[in-house]
Amino acid sequence: MKSVSFAAVVFCVLAQQIRSSEILVIFPTTAQSHYRVVRPLIHGLLDRGHRVLAITNFPDTAERANLSHIDISGLKPHSKFTTASLGLAKIMSHITGNANAYATVLGHPPVVELLRSGRKFDLVIAEFFTSTPIFAPIAAVVDAPIVGFCPMIQFPWINDLMGMDTAVSYMPTLISDSGDRMSFVQRVGNAVKSAILNVGLNWLNSRAIRYVVKRHYGLRTESAIEAMANLTMIMTNNYRSVFLPYPSLPGIVEVGGIHVVDEKPVSQQDLNDFINNADHGVILFSLGSVVSESSMGTDKLYNILDAFSRLKQRVIMKFDDEKHKKEIPTNVKVVKWFPQRDLLAHPKVLLFITHAGIMSVIETIHCGKPIVAIPIFGDQIVNTHLLVEKQVAVAIKYAHLESDQLFDAINEALTEKYLINMKKLQQLYNDRPHSPLETAVYWTEYVIRNKNESNELLKSERIHLNLYQTYLIDIFTAFLLPPIIAIYIILWTMKRLRKH
Ligand SMILES: *[C@@H]1O[C@H](CO)[C@@H](O)[C@H](O)[C@H]1NC(C)=O
Ligand SMILES: *[C@@H]1O[C@H](CO)[C@@H](O)[C@H](O)[C@H]1NC(C)=O
Ligand SMILES: *[C@@H]1O[C@H](CO)[C@@H](O)[C@H](O)[C@H]1NC(C)=O
Repeated sequence: MKSVSFAAVVFCVLAQQIRSSEILVIFPTTAQSHYRVVRPLIHGLLDRGHRVLAITNFPDTAERANLSHIDISGLKPHSKFTTASLGLAKIMSHITGNANAYATVLGHPPVVELLRSGRKFDLVIAEFFTSTPIFAPIAAVVDAPIVGFCPMIQFPWINDLMGMDTAVSYMPTLISDSGDRMSFVQRVGNAVKSAILNVGLNWLNSRAIRYVVKRHYGLRTESAIEAMANLTMIMTNNYRSVFLPYPSLPGIVEVGGIHVVDEKPVSQQDLNDFINNADHGVILFSLGSVVSESSMGTDKLYNILDAFSRLKQRVIMKFDDEKHKKEIPTNVKVVKWFPQRDLLAHPKVLLFITHAGIMSVIETIHCGKPIVAIPIFGDQIVNTHLLVEKQVAVAIKYAHLESDQLFDAINEALTEKYLINMKKLQQLYNDRPHSPLETAVYWTEYVIRNKNESNELLKSERIHLNLYQTYLIDIFTAFLLPPIIAIYIILWTMKRLRKH
């Protein structure tokens, strides 16, 4: 009894030890799905008595004490990707073009005022994405440690910044077209793509970033990576033991699934009626919020609708264009938006046809529903490979989206095997010592508590080594080169002597 009350006292002391802190959150991209990942953490930190100022395109509509916003919506136009023209070069040029667009946020009067005010914070949480090099130097201005928060399971530079080597033999890059089990050809592809992303993107980006960072902070940084060197820790929307088991470092904290909030009953009456009248269950279709479905082209859309019309299940389809309304089969309902997380949890929903963006994948695993994946670009392709390897998804190449193929893929994914595998994956995904939110709150407060020491606390010494030190090239040179030269000289001398 005594020890129980003692433990309770210790817990209370630990829980109270951290005073109310001032936290600055910067999530500049216009993809709402990214902000959905940090919003639960913001509210978790408010619940703990902290005060949060968020620079975002998506301010909360409901007022909450100690939460304030700088609304940056409209500063940078939200360009949806089309389903065509998504080559690597296009994406890279899109990313490098973004540096100047993000600079407009730094020139936005409330942001300028904040940075000039001399106001101090205890912590900065910055979206870890292509925008991070532009915003990371804010931390020094507000005199706070900075934590990155990556909405995806991985992103280039995370390993470099925390001091971890990337083994391209078994760590697929973000844009890889394989999972972690790679053939020779896939390893070649992964090595090339890894170099393009980690080195190429840094190099391409560096010029624009050097300029913006110099102009807005008066700082000299050689590269994009250098502009982010003050990052103390990076949280990722990953759960490694399920997605990609490989070595990690304390500075890389997995909070995968943090965006999956508690389910609510579906409130839209028309959706409810449609689901309740479905005698054979319901299938969901969505390509996410970044790709424009209407760019798909009439032939692809026709193929999809034709496949759906042959199903006995009903289909709820997210589609951002209404002009095709007339050709919709009776078992299909087209809506511009649906409450994906709540629908996935609905017992009548059997399957999700998705672009395999990581948020959707995690929500689907959370709800234990099999997947038909139609990946289109970016990390969707590697996500799909991981799902297919685990036999919880059937994949279709977007370019080959034919009616029969889709129809067969749906029926294959509806077989019992996929459901059983997905239920197992769901159980593995939820089997962890702490919820993703608890983990995120703990490590966020950890950095605040240890603010003075935090800078290199969670990184490896690798950040201070250069390539020849890391791979012992200097040691080989020092120890092996002299004997090699000596042997060479001896052989050469012997040869000369023999000649005489
Ligand atoms: C707001 O923050 C102050 C400390 O700055 C704290 O005393 C107060 O309890 C917080 N309010 C809420 C509702 O959390
Ligand atoms: C990193 O932090 C130090 C100390 O606060 C600061 O002087 C430096 O300018 C920062 N560098 C960048 C790139 O933010
Ligand atoms: C951090 O360092 C500053 C200045 O050196 C000191 O005033 C402060 O008390 C330290 N904070 C903690 C939590 O140790």
